[in-house]
Amino acid sequence: MPAILILHGPNLNLLGSRETDIYGELALEEIDRRLQQAGEELGLQVRSFQSNSEGALIDALHEARGWAAGVVFNPAGYTHTSVALRDAVAAIHLPVVEVHLSNVYAREAFRHESLIAPVCAGKITGFGWRSYLLGLHAVAEIIQGEAG
Ligand code: DQA
Repeated sequence: MPAILILHGPNLNLLGSRETDIYGELALEEIDRRLQQAGEELGLQVRSFQSNSEGALIDALHEARGWAAGVVFNPAGYTHTSVALRDAVAAIHLPVVEVHLSNVYAREAFRHESLIAPVCAGKITGFGWRSYLLGLHAVAEIIQGEAG
């Protein structure tokens, strides 16, 4: 069964209490539970990891080379700042789909730029927790396409 890494960046551990008007009421654990369930339906093993640390996120991307067929990644605030995370995504040769709960294009101008998006397979933004679900489906499609 192909395995997928769901990678959550900084401050997403606070989902459910953090700026709920923007990010919704669901806690990260509940989002991960729903993605696990969706993975089962898609025939994918889903593993989730969250960190507030750029280095830990880079390590998780490197380690994913050894076990994952693709990655759904919300780099959160690092989206707009991190050359190092962009380089990690470019280095691992796995399909990575960038996701955001909020519609970053409807927000401040500094959120319109992503250093990560150019090295991703694609980007999904603005659908709340379902951005992750759509990202999981997108990765599944890419993997199935590669398989034939
Ligand atoms: C976010 C959007 C980012 O701009 C922000 O820094 C986040 C969350 C989102 O999921 O909408 O922390 O990635």
